[in-house]
Amino acid sequence: MRLFEKRDARFEVLRDAESLSARAAELFLSIARRSVTTRGDFIVALSGGSTPKALYERLARDAADDSVWPRTQVFWSDERCVPPDDEESNYRMANEALLSRISVSRENIHRMRGEDYPETAAADYSAVVGKILASRSLKFDLILLGLGEDGHTASLFPHSPALEEREKLVAANWVEKLEASRLTFTVPLINRAVNVLFLVAGEKKREALRAVLSDTADPREYPARFVQPSNGQLQFLVDEAAAIGLDEKGS
Ligand code: 6PG
Repeated sequence: MRLFEKRDARFEVLRDAESLSARAAELFLSIARRSVTTRGDFIVALSGGSTPKALYERLARDAADDSVWPRTQVFWSDERCVPPDDEESNYRMANEALLSRISVSRENIHRMRGEDYPETAAADYSAVVGKILASRSLKFDLILLGLGEDGHTASLFPHSPALEEREKLVAANWVEKLEASRLTFTVPLINRAVNVLFLVAGEKKREALRAVLSDTADPREYPARFVQPSNGQLQFLVDEAAAIGLDEKGS
């Protein structure tokens, strides 16, 4: 495993996707246990995508009986505007891969209502986040994020309206290239987190990862660059395929 730091972010380069999901599970559980010990519970926002999914499946397989689950509150950092049983649903993916297989309380699972009118769903979810995290100053213990080939993260897509949102916690976001609305955490909410963990695997992510690492790429072109937690720890777990060509300083 190679390690390097860049702009206060910590990068770990793992041999392959399998090693990445194993390391991600270690980090996830370590943050969860520390949160339960120090704050009484663990408040996490899950991400959609195949890379996060591999983590969820590993947690369900290797840590189904872990003592953190009854003390865990589950949110999503984004959702497609579809019903919860739709194959596109991030809720459905995480529920099948993890939540239905661990002892998390159903009332602690806070689903974005993708089936509702997007602006209403975003406002309602902002209210739930505000209520549950009021005593935490809106700071998630962990926000998991993937990285799209185009540099999007959560559902903050290049040049999409939600990139400019600095007041709301959760926004409805029209994504032109998908010709669809999405629900997404906003940049301010993500940047309040105690821990933000990106999971990036595959050679197709190489360009987006380089842009995230560069000091010149426009965040409106590569929205993941907006993720710079004000006081939290930003970590990237990337596999060799995505990190090819990066030197030990990430250049
Ligand atoms: C979504 C995700 C999205 C995802 C990235 C990476 O709703 O699609 O939240 O941001 O994390 O697109 O996805 P992969 O890991 O599948 O490449």
